[in-house]
Amino acid sequence: MSTPVLSLRGVTKRFGGLVAVNAMDFDVAEREVVGLLGPNGSGKSTTLNLISGALPLTSGHVSLWGSRISGLPAQTITRKGVSRTFQLVRLLPSMNVRENVVAGAVFGHRRRWGQDAWDHADQLLDKVGLGGKGDMALGQLTYIDTKRVELARTLASDPKVLLLDEWLAGLNPTELQIGITLIKSLRDEGRTIILVEHVMDAIRSLCDRCVVMASGTKIAEGTPTQVLSDKEVIRAYLGDDDA
Ligand SMILES: Nc1ncnc2c1ncn2[C@@H]1O[C@H](COP(=O)(O)OP(=O)(O)OP(=O)(O)O)[C@@H](O)[C@H]1O
Ligand SMILES: [Mg+2]
Repeated sequence: MSTPVLSLRGVTKRFGGLVAVNAMDFDVAEREVVGLLGPNGSGKSTTLNLISGALPLTSGHVSLWGSRISGLPAQTITRKGVSRTFQLVRLLPSMNVRENVVAGAVFGHRRRWGQDAWDHADQLLDKVGLGGKGDMALGQLTYIDTKRVELARTLASDPKVLLLDEWLAGLNPTELQIGITLIKSLRDEGRTIILVEHVMDAIRSLCDRCVVMASGTKIAEGTPTQVLSDKEVIRAYLGDDDA
């Protein structure tokens, strides 16, 4: 692998007595789509929180293009080009759709202001399938449309590395295909993507490589076909230890 965009080394997070993320090591290459998989509670969202700076690490480090980003404030990490969506959509309910997207540009890797920010927000809304809905209130939107707003808000900072936490969860089969096509288009724009996902169809069609966690620890790494046929992975998913 050439210089990885993102490297995790010994990344560990304790919550009191619980080791939620335990000595995680993995690299992500430029333009790669890496799936972060594992049963409920295995530490996937926490890992994204450690990469994005939403939570401080207990030990270990995260590097972006070989420079350490762990320990920096989350806003600085965003400005360096790492941005994420949340498992539970987090938007600003008092703002309309377009304003929510513009809010995402303020701390971006590429900062935009004024008319440029508004025009860019409308382009992003078109891209995620919300063309013409910029003036709507968030409360008027369907569930998938709120997810689209969140993705557009995340893209407004023009991230090099995009962290998606179950962005495809809860979509119907038609919406899922649209979502998969959209994520592919983001990869084709040159973005590097880490995808936390349970939807197997999405994992198989999107991921170049997968990292599988169980109880905070990496238990497998490889292509989707390799990891999904791995005995330890199957046991982790079928066993009740993490349920
Ligand atoms: N802020 C927190 N304080 C204490 N414990 C936490 C905190 N965040 C997560 N945990 C615990 O850390 C463990 C890993 O949680 P995490 O949310 O990372 O799992 P996950 O793999 O994303 O699960 P899911 O598939 O259900 O989203 C769980 O046991 C969870 O209860
Ligand atoms: Mg999670």
